[in-house]
Amino acid sequence: MSDENDEMVVTPYEVRGKLDYDRLIQMFGTQRIDKKLKEKLFKVAGERHFMLERDLFFSHRDLDWILEEHVKGNPFTIYTGRGPSGDTHIGHLVPWIFTKWLQDRVKTRLYFQMTNDEKYFFNSNLSLDDVKRYTHENTLDLLALGFQPENTYIIQDIEHIDMLYEIAIEVARKVTFSTVKATFGFDNSTNIGSLWHPAIQAVPAFLHSWIYGKNTPCLIPCAIDQDPFWRVTRDIAEKLGYYKPATIQCMFVPGLKEGGKMSASDEMSVIYTTDTPKMAKRKVMAAFTGGRATVEEQRRLGANPDICSVFKWYKFIFVPDDAKLAEIERTCKSGELLCGPCKQFLAPLMVDFLEKHQAAREEVKDRVDEFSAARLRDEIRR
Ligand code: TRP
Repeated sequence: MSDENDEMVVTPYEVRGKLDYDRLIQMFGTQRIDKKLKEKLFKVAGERHFMLERDLFFSHRDLDWILEEHVKGNPFTIYTGRGPSGDTHIGHLVPWIFTKWLQDRVKTRLYFQMTNDEKYFFNSNLSLDDVKRYTHENTLDLLALGFQPENTYIIQDIEHIDMLYEIAIEVARKVTFSTVKATFGFDNSTNIGSLWHPAIQAVPAFLHSWIYGKNTPCLIPCAIDQDPFWRVTRDIAEKLGYYKPATIQCMFVPGLKEGGKMSASDEMSVIYTTDTPKMAKRKVMAAFTGGRATVEEQRRLGANPDICSVFKWYKFIFVPDDAKLAEIERTCKSGELLCGPCKQFLAPLMVDFLEKHQAAREEVKDRVDEFSAARLRDEIRR
């Protein structure tokens, strides 16, 4: 393969090439989550979580600081989000599952931003109806994970702009064209909605402080590609009288094909939350593995779990149990476990997950309003 295809590109708008997470930390200027910091978070949470244990969440900004504040009695809120540009796939759920765990453990409020405006600005093939429909559909997937209305507030940018606008203009006044140009790679052909969007995406980091009139730390769990937004947001936070938001950042969940992240551009590499069990099973059985050319060779030499998409799915989603994961890894490497049976083991886990998720989706269908940030309108100081 040529170098050009392998070249790593990670921006909020594009992720491709061979991913080197050490280099990303360096390029973005974030910190690696070391052992000590992991333990600190587990202690605050009162429980361990395999996604952090196994370094799916691997990078941060000021996580140590925000945990210390929490311990000192200065609790934080959580903010994350989704750009509703299409149907939800399993890769999207992963940071949300971790977010839910964190929220439950530290018992705090979650602000979840649906950036339907962002997706409208950035995708000329999406209509307003499209992004609104995806906002609703994606919200069902979020809520199917079991969030509670008491402490979950979903912000829909287009519908709730009146609640965001005042903070957005404060942010926008402090951020120059040259900053967003350099940070996001914008140029003269970029529409002005896109230039403005970083102001809107900054708002939920400050919303709680603004509404209640008390500066409150905010922690943002997200995939690492969103870091440019937080760089801009953190830069201006203190000028506006707010804490800089802290972040805890994850890797991309790999697709079922060789290399790369799960991406809607290759249907077979992705499992959508609305896929039928039959379809999901077909995709699993066609997955890329670290197997050998022949059964005989694999029995003799073993396979390579490090490059195997099925093994990554076990590791990051479907096998939280460490002993079980170690057993899969060992028998894979030794040649005892062949790829066919290994996929046969993943398929029912996947189907079971999908069936439960789809049932939960049905259940929340008529309850979306209970989670709407529109409830906060009454609390806003005028
Ligand atoms: N820009 C993100 C996307 O395209 C959506 C988003 C908005 C987000 N706010 C966020 C993601 C906070 C993570 C954390 O998907």
